[in-house]
Amino acid sequence: MPTVFMLMCYMHYEKVFVRPLLRKTQIYDILSNMKVLIINATMREQTSYNFSRVLAEMIAGEEGLIYEVFLPKNLPDFCTGCYRCITSGESSCPHSKHVNTILAAIDDSQVFIIASPVCGRNVPASLKNLFDHLYFQWIYHRPKGEMWNRQGVILTSCSIGGQKHAQNCIRHNLENWGMAKIHTLNFKTQCRQFDEVLPYEKIRMGKSLEKLTAKILMGVDKKPGLYSRLLFLKGRLYQKLKNKNKIDTDYWGEKGWLDVIRPWYVKRIRK
Ligand SMILES: Cc1cc2nc3c(=O)[nH]c(=O)nc-3n(C[C@H](O)[C@H](O)[C@H](O)COP(=O)(O)O)c2cc1C
Repeated sequence: MPTVFMLMCYMHYEKVFVRPLLRKTQIYDILSNMKVLIINATMREQTSYNFSRVLAEMIAGEEGLIYEVFLPKNLPDFCTGCYRCITSGESSCPHSKHVNTILAAIDDSQVFIIASPVCGRNVPASLKNLFDHLYFQWIYHRPKGEMWNRQGVILTSCSIGGQKHAQNCIRHNLENWGMAKIHTLNFKTQCRQFDEVLPYEKIRMGKSLEKLTAKILMGVDKKPGLYSRLLFLKGRLYQKLKNKNKIDTDYWGEKGWLDVIRPWYVKRIRK
């Protein structure tokens, strides 16, 4: 009996601790220097922060780079709805000092993780404030071409539920920035602090993060899906037929998107 028990213990040990490590090393072989941006919707550094950090470290690998944005610290002012970013360019935003720093991190990252707790069945106001400040890069205005080669992760944590509304809010923004692929993960913790999350739950969540890492790494440099391309065509149609904002139409014209060039083929055309 004791031998059988010891064997069972070892098998369990291997399944929980050894195999994930093996998988991790295989993943580390594929990747080398990914750049990951974590946007933390709050400053709490609890559940969503800790899991997003683990995910970012797995994606970035040892030679990669992780940028972290903490809200509201890195964007303390609320959007005033002055329209300056849309009509005169994003550098005219009264809060451009903060926005530009975040934009520099966005420009330099291949994978974005939006880590957010669920607050009142939605995202915290600080995150919505960031999305308001970045509205100029929606598909109807001046989206960044690189987005069609990038991936986003929506990582929410809640105690009992309501994550769908929060995730939809984030997804809606990422989609309209033109992001090629969006992954979603939610952690239902039933508690308030990361320390209170049960060890079993942490292992389970760790496994989900590993699977997601593999998925993200497989998706690097893949072309965007049909939905993402259709959204681009919708934006293009809007620019051609309806948009009267000259700065937007000039931008689309300069990129060649009103002609035959598409953002997801830019690399190939440059070659
Ligand atoms: C103001 C506020 C509103 C919240 N609303 C919800 C909610 O609607 N649904 C839910 O399941 N949890 C809700 N929570 C609980 C948090 O989402 C939950 O504790 C989460 O794990 C915290 O994430 P964090 O540790 O990353 O900050 C709320 C917490 C706060 C402070």
